[in-house]
Amino acid sequence: MSIRGLFITMEGGEGVGKSTNLTFLENFLHDKGVDVVCTREPGGTRIGEDIRNLLLQIRQEKVSAMAELLLIFAARAQHIREFIEPALATGQVVLCDRFTDATYAYQCGGRGVAWDTVKQLEELVQDKLRPDVTLLLDAPTAVGMSRARGRGELDRFEQEDLDFFERVRISYLKQANDDSGRYRIIDASVSLDSVQQQLLAVGNEVFSYWRERSVES
Ligand code: TMP
Repeated sequence: MSIRGLFITMEGGEGVGKSTNLTFLENFLHDKGVDVVCTREPGGTRIGEDIRNLLLQIRQEKVSAMAELLLIFAARAQHIREFIEPALATGQVVLCDRFTDATYAYQCGGRGVAWDTVKQLEELVQDKLRPDVTLLLDAPTAVGMSRARGRGELDRFEQEDLDFFERVRISYLKQANDDSGRYRIIDASVSLDSVQQQLLAVGNEVFSYWRERSVES
């Protein structure tokens, strides 16, 4: 009998080190023999990456919050059908850099879109698909922003002000608090070494869960 894989998402504000730490977790699981694939949102498919470019590009005209939201869910719809669901169906562990919790944090928290609007789209586009585990890399907003700004040119989201990212952080922490069974909060304000020690604990937890399920099947 084949088993369904695991869907793990990584979330956090700007400059918290998601990419580096996602690669670290991917390598850790891969070395343990786990069949793991990495992807990201917005993006993960050719259509999704085109939409990502559209979303991140700095434009002269103001992008309406609703247009932004629908583009994000259009990319997500394609990502789920073309990549995430097929991978989970073959038993793979899918590590995804951001998913719908980012929409609650950025579009609801940051832009002020109604929570219920995102909820309706989530149900329409995802049906029952929700992450099994979500890692929140958390750091004080000013710390993350100064790291992000040090990377050079800013995209359309990174140009937002400190208040916007404070609201994003508050939303993430609230989501983590409301769904503590799914969330693991990682303190990303400490050294990379200490962040990775925390990630190893989650990696080991995921590995044990994956192994148990493999033995059962
Ligand atoms: P990244 O910086 O993690 O690659 O993500 C690109 C930007 O997209 C980031 O600034 C957050 C934003 N974003 C949203 O606003 N809503 C979403 O649902 C997702 C997935 C990303």
